[in-house]
Amino acid sequence: MQKLISWIDQRLPIVEAYNKHLGQYYAPKNFNMWYFFGSLALLVLVNQLVTGIWLTMSYNPSAESAFASVEYIMRDVQWGWLLRYMHSTGASAFFVVVYLHMFRGLMYGSYQKPRELIWIFGMLIYLMLMAEAFMGYLLPWGQMSYWGAQVIVNLFGAIPVIGEDLSLWIRGDYLISGITLNRFFALHVVALPIVLLGLVVLHILALHEVGSNNPDGIDIKKNKDEHGIPKDGIPFHPYYTVHDLIGVGVFLFVFCVVVFFFPEMGGLFLEKPNFEPANSLKTPEHIAPVWYFTPFYAMLRAVTVDLFGLPAKFWGVVVMGGAIAILFVLPWLDKSPVRSIRYKGRLSKIALACLVVSFIILGYLGIVPATEGRTTLAQILTTLYFLYFILMPFYTRMEQTKPVPERVTG
Ligand code: HEM
Repeated sequence: MQKLISWIDQRLPIVEAYNKHLGQYYAPKNFNMWYFFGSLALLVLVNQLVTGIWLTMSYNPSAESAFASVEYIMRDVQWGWLLRYMHSTGASAFFVVVYLHMFRGLMYGSYQKPRELIWIFGMLIYLMLMAEAFMGYLLPWGQMSYWGAQVIVNLFGAIPVIGEDLSLWIRGDYLISGITLNRFFALHVVALPIVLLGLVVLHILALHEVGSNNPDGIDIKKNKDEHGIPKDGIPFHPYYTVHDLIGVGVFLFVFCVVVFFFPEMGGLFLEKPNFEPANSLKTPEHIAPVWYFTPFYAMLRAVTVDLFGLPAKFWGVVVMGGAIAILFVLPWLDKSPVRSIRYKGRLSKIALACLVVSFIILGYLGIVPATEGRTTLAQILTTLYFLYFILMPFYTRMEQTKPVPERVTG
């Protein structure tokens, strides 16, 4: 065995890679449960890839038979129902895990110098994930697949001058059709997963270059022992590989409960109209995207005024795009001398709480039909969302921070 390893190692440095990324990768010893979500995101990614490959073996990407092939998977293919529910639940689980992972980053200032690139790669992953989920949702060719795609692709039509041609180019037809289904299938099963995997590799390489942050936001590399090992660091393997297994266990328990008992999650994970085949002549009474898009959908609908000769729809798209784009520049908005929320001042804490509350309520507002009162509320909450970012350079400078300890706590 040793001979084989050294034979390979002379040709491909696997031992060096193992040491660099696991055995001698020193992670701060004070990770808490918020640090489970990175490895859980990896686990869900693997789940999506594996179940996706098996679903593809029985799925048929044509307008005539896509819906029926999903029913065939559910009823006739052995364990097909399990594969499908693992994949559909996995999509929602992905967003739950990634939102918590991002929230951890916000809490502990993990996007701050020198981790800007990790954050940017994370944001690109998030964008890809949204594209991947959107395209995947068209594949069952149900009513919501069809009309959801129709609404979203039509949004591109709001862009002045090129909009109409752009949405035509995306659809490949004058309305969502089998042609659209075919290209979304190709992108969903081949192109985007490759990009996603590449980005995840870059995300982790960038992380391992500078090292992990921690709940105290302290740079553990500042305190090294005589061997050059951070005093507050422990080898990732075996300490965190084993520690992460606790997170995996809890996650799998919850995941199984959903897969086996609540796969539709009351219409949140699999929407009711999607059990009816797509029909271009029958618009569902109420079109709403899946829950993980609804905060942005609520922002889109919150814009109701035409401005500078451009329709409200255009400005809605700008606001929605802006809500995601502003996250990219977050590392340069935070001017605080400290990283972690533990040592930031009261203003940062209030601001983060407002961001979370507005995002959750916007998520709810995006699911339910719009009324006048709800639209006003969505306008207020959208403003709050943006204020978190726009005012950040000011409140992070103004507030009184707490002294940061020399060594990690807890
Ligand atoms: C497929 C999706 C993703 C995967 C598989 C993934 C994976 C990971 C892993 C394994 C870690 C190290 C463990 C940990 O710190 O939890 C990590 C750290 C990190 N990720 Fe992600 N990630 C994903 C998406 C994102 C997104 C969407 C963002 C933010 C926009 C993000 C931002 C970060 C940051 C800032 C760190 C460093 C955290 C720290 O050191 O405190 N990640 N990621």
